[in-house]
Amino acid sequence: MNLTDRIAVITGGAGGIGSALARRFAAEGAAAVVVADLDADAADAVAAGIGPVAHAAAVDVTDEEQVRALVADTERRYGRIDLFCANAGVATGGGVELPDADWDRAWRVNVLAHVYAARAVLPGMLARGGGYLLATCSAAGVLTAVGDAPYTATKHAAVGFAEWLAVTYRDQGLRVSALCPQGVDTPMLADGLAAGHLGARVIAASGAVLSPDQVADAVIAGLAEERFLILPHPEVAGYARRRAEDPDGWQAGLRKLVRRLRG
Ligand SMILES: NC(=O)c1ccc[n+]([C@@H]2O[C@H](COP(=O)([O-])OP(=O)(O)OC[C@H]3O[C@@H](n4cnc5c(N)ncnc54)[C@H](O)[C@@H]3O)[C@@H](O)[C@H]2O)c1
Repeated sequence: MNLTDRIAVITGGAGGIGSALARRFAAEGAAAVVVADLDADAADAVAAGIGPVAHAAAVDVTDEEQVRALVADTERRYGRIDLFCANAGVATGGGVELPDADWDRAWRVNVLAHVYAARAVLPGMLARGGGYLLATCSAAGVLTAVGDAPYTATKHAAVGFAEWLAVTYRDQGLRVSALCPQGVDTPMLADGLAAGHLGARVIAASGAVLSPDQVADAVIAGLAEERFLILPHPEVAGYARRRAEDPDGWQAGLRKLVRRLRG
């Protein structure tokens, strides 16, 4: 898929990666870009910065009615959705000790919101013979987010759900990609580093921290090839291979990195 004349919706569109995708899709010639975010003011600012091709929508992706309304409003306004990016996500920086409320929020934003998006867009996309779902997951979804148990568990679930969608609906024209970056220079990572979270420190020590625009470059290339796994950090493919071939050795390497960071 290329973006020329496409109608795209991006949740978490006011954030680091989401806003870079919105700007890039518009620059690639999209006919409309819907910047959907919980933070209405920030979404307005991103859309205003892009110009008339973009508009903002205040949406909580954990509320199925709001996701349904986002999709229905967009289809009414533009006739269709070509590309829906389920990109909103949250990290916690904690482990098993976190209260259920934190686990629940991670589950609802990082996984259930993708289910709501698929439920809402599938009827229209399948009726039109196709469409594209981009799920922003994480390298944590194919590896492990050291220091963040809910993030690891929910991002693995998000990759699993995206793969299930691809296998189930590809022959009916639905294309699916799972975007799995490692470190990206956004408020999510900056906040984790500022709070001294181990996970953020491991990410920063584990390789290049890309800019959101570099992630957008990888997304444009991945969409053009209609590749399932989009890996802005190509080394993640090698890590995933090593983890699959030798899980114990892989975990030993991670523990060594954690010991080094903890001093
Ligand atoms: N930054 C990284 O290092 C990194 C690495 C891998 C994956 N990711 C993933 O990329 C995606 C984007 O994250 P980012 O780094 O741009 O972070 P970010 O914090 O800059 O952006 C996240 C956006 O999601 C929005 N959001 C949160 N909960 C929402 C909800 N319930 N409804 C609607 N919007 C909501 C926030 O308001 C924010 O604008 C996330 O799914 C994240 O897990 C980030």
